[in-house]
Amino acid sequence: MSAVDEEKRLAAEAAAALVQDGMCVGLGTGTTVAYLLPALAARRLRLRCVATSVATAEMAQRLGLPVEPFDSLDRLDIAIDGADQITPDGWLIKGGGGAHTREKVVAAAAERFVVIASSNKPVARLTPPVPLELLAFGLLATLRAVAPATLRDAPPSPDGGLIADHLGEIGDPADLAAQLDAVPGVVGHGLFPPALVTDVIIGRGAGVEHRSLD
Ligand code: 5RP
Repeated sequence: MSAVDEEKRLAAEAAAALVQDGMCVGLGTGTTVAYLLPALAARRLRLRCVATSVATAEMAQRLGLPVEPFDSLDRLDIAIDGADQITPDGWLIKGGGGAHTREKVVAAAAERFVVIASSNKPVARLTPPVPLELLAFGLLATLRAVAPATLRDAPPSPDGGLIADHLGEIGDPADLAAQLDAVPGVVGHGLFPPALVTDVIIGRGAGVEHRSLD
C-alpha cells in the first residue's frame, strides 16, 4: 500500500470509530471512503445508511452495510466523506468524483460531518477547478454564465446533471459560492463552507490529526 493510501486508511478507520450503534450514517464517495466502508462494516453495528453515489451504495451493500434511498430519513447522525482540498479554516473543494451535489445534501442533513483525507489534501488556499453539476436544459447558456468552465468527459450524475468544472480564480470562496448559487442552471457546486464541517481527520505518516471545527 502506498504512503498516501495508508494515510487514507488511517483517517477512514478513525472516522469509522466515531460511529455508534443505531446511528443514521451518510456515506461519501471516493478512494478514501473505500477504506471507510470495510472499517465500518467490520464493527457490525445496527445502522441505517444512505450513500452519495451508486459506487458507494454497491460497495457498502457488498460489505453488508444496509443502504436505503435518501427519501425515508429527514436527518442523519453523521456523514463521513473525503475531499479534494481542505483549507485551515475549513473550506473544502469536493467533487473530484462528480458526486458533490448528493454529497452536499448528505453533509447538510448530518449533525456531524466528518472529512477524512490523506496529508496531501490540506492547502493554504483553494485553487481551481471547482466541480459543478449543471442542468442539461439550457446547458450552453449556463456554461456561458459560469465561464470559464468546461464540461467534464464523465457520465451524468444519478440525478441527470452534467458534470463540469469552473476554471476561474477562486478569490474569496464565499463570494464564488454565492455567484454560482445564483445561476439558475447550476444544480450544485463543489465549494463546501466551514459551517458544514464539524471534524477534519487527516492521516499523516503513521498517525492521524483530528481537528474539531465546532
Ligand atoms: C467525490 C468527492 C471525493 O470525496 C473527493 O474527490 C476525494 O476523493 P478521494 O478520497 O478519492 O481522494 O468529492 O465527488
